[in-house]
Amino acid sequence: MSLDQLLEWIPTGGAEEALARQIEMDRLPRHVAIIMDGNGRWAGQRHLPRVEGHRAGIDSVRDVVETSARLGLDVLTLYAFSVENWKRPATEISTLMMLLKRYLRLELSTLLRNNIRFRVIGRTDALAPDIMEELLAAERKTSTNTGMLFNIALNYGGRTEIVDAARRAMASGLGPQDLDEDRFAGFLYTAGQPDPDLLIRTSGEMRVSNFLLWQIAYAEIWVTDTLWPDFRCRHLLEGVLAYQKRDRRFGGITPPVAAGVK
Ligand code: FPP
Repeated sequence: MSLDQLLEWIPTGGAEEALARQIEMDRLPRHVAIIMDGNGRWAGQRHLPRVEGHRAGIDSVRDVVETSARLGLDVLTLYAFSVENWKRPATEISTLMMLLKRYLRLELSTLLRNNIRFRVIGRTDALAPDIMEELLAAERKTSTNTGMLFNIALNYGGRTEIVDAARRAMASGLGPQDLDEDRFAGFLYTAGQPDPDLLIRTSGEMRVSNFLLWQIAYAEIWVTDTLWPDFRCRHLLEGVLAYQKRDRRFGGITPPVAAGVK
């Protein structure tokens, strides 16, 4: 996709267009990962039950997925449910699962229209059979799409993923000497995908919350005070622009300084 694809979808003359036109399309982050936070606070501010925050958060998911695909990201990963989220009240968990199921049913046509490939990452074997069925159907129906890869992290934990990868590596028959960082990454849920260049967290919290711990080693982190249900295309574009202003050194030093160092 491209700037034109994005411009034809966003309101003309608005803040989104002004932001979109500032983006350097040849320096996009390949992979953006988002910790969607603040649904409960959004609902609380409106004296609504917490689940209303999650319900409103679905509109943000819809907007961000289509913006990302039109912009031309290679991968978008959304953190929808962590291994720790089972501690929440049963009604909140069942509503989240129901919303996810409904999202997949209603948005499949959007995923197909935008050539998006859908994948779920996490310990999916612990999910209810009806949810699994829905997830697998969406993966299957979008499997031949060649555009953006959209990962939903579900029953996901970064440490759990690393343990799962270590188990797979041991079971594969590789000897300790054969294992290096690249080979190990091939046992993660995200095998074959580029690491996130940009990690976005909403609602102002400065935590990584056990999300993609291995993969975010060199990600740029951008935190916005905006609560997830208020997060839209405009905010994603702001995050990408902030990313493009960063000086990524990957542990080295910036080239002009390096050139002057004796
Ligand atoms: C964090 O807000 C949000 C979640 C735990 C769930 C996010 C899920 C959705 C937006 C819906 C389903 C997702 C998809 C991809 C269809 P919080 O409840 O922790 O908020 P708080 O910190 O304000 O309490």
